[in-house]
Amino acid sequence: KGCKLVGCGSALPQRLISNDDLAQIVETSDEWISVRTGIRNRRILSGDETLTGLAVEASRKALQMAQVKPDDVDLILLCTSTPDDLFGSGPQIQKELGCRKNPLAFDIRAACSGFVLGLMTAGFSIRAGGFQNVLVIGADALSQYVDWTDRGTCILFGDAAGAVLVQACDGDEDALLGYDLHSDGDGQKHLNALAKDDRTENLFVSNGVPTSFPRPSSYSCIQMNGKEVFRFAVRCVPLSIEASLERAGLMSSSIDWLLLHQANQRIIDAVATRLQIPPDHVISNLANYGNTSAASIPLALDEAVRSGKVQAGNIIATAGFGAGLTWGSAIVKW
Ligand code: ACO
Repeated sequence: KGCKLVGCGSALPQRLISNDDLAQIVETSDEWISVRTGIRNRRILSGDETLTGLAVEASRKALQMAQVKPDDVDLILLCTSTPDDLFGSGPQIQKELGCRKNPLAFDIRAACSGFVLGLMTAGFSIRAGGFQNVLVIGADALSQYVDWTDRGTCILFGDAAGAVLVQACDGDEDALLGYDLHSDGDGQKHLNALAKDDRTENLFVSNGVPTSFPRPSSYSCIQMNGKEVFRFAVRCVPLSIEASLERAGLMSSSIDWLLLHQANQRIIDAVATRLQIPPDHVISNLANYGNTSAASIPLALDEAVRSGKVQAGNIIATAGFGAGLTWGSAIVKW
């Protein structure tokens, strides 16, 4: 059995924050941010906007392009690290899309690698589980976990959602050609947003031992060693894409588009150089949106498809990398 990609969509918050806006709250400049990262603007949730709302909007557009009705979706994978509900926001998306047959919907939490892991989970579910139409959503609102006084991280992130519909098909039409997925918990020290340990309150004595109830918890802001994350990405992503290509039986010269998680233009350029992919075969939109975590790949794919850049039959090498640490790549045909 094969899987094909039949629709995509994306959604962005209204509020735009420019580098100059950030220069008003931390000691930085448009020049520093654009030279070091390639980022110029980002969108941030405001007012009534929610992660679930963005994810639903992106999903509707993907279903419309695919000409698939909500009732025909039988699995929804919401790739996010910032759900509106601690227990997962996937089922809310199922409800708001109006999928009346109660298809399974759940969250995959893998930071900036989330979308690639979700895409492959969709493939495994179609091949082994008999699912027909799997909606894979990458959505994150990391602005909620950014320390807006830390110039090393607050300049990087933006909020967004993107979605792709993966559909079962005959094996000879298969679009998921190769993959390679990893994680390394050892690297958590370089990038994390840990649950706060607030157990010092509400002390009581149990069997003569002072004990405490955990208080309602929250998460610390994003902590990152940018240099280490940069090194990790530039080292691991090309190796992963090479492994995916080998699994697909392809050479890097067969790649029509390199579509990486949009974290930093210098990372994208370094990976492209290493794989000998010319700049006009590289998709990049992070100047406008910053690092939107799990949303960045489907957001960039959606823009590239709707602008006519990515055409039917094109081969795309995609890779996600980020907190966990997690990383993974996939070779897909649009
Ligand atoms: N404006 C001005 N100066 C700054 C800023 C800023 N916004 N941020 C840092 N600096 C200063 C530092 O204080 C330092 O000053 P010093 O030399 O006086 O000490 C200097 O600039 C260099 O800082 P570095 O952190 O070494 O700068 P670097 O070139 O490494 O760039 C950056 C930092 C952009 C964060 C880069 O390391 C990077 O992009 N790393 C990868 C991050 C990433 O891709 N994360 C993806 C995963 S995200 C996820 O999974 C959630």
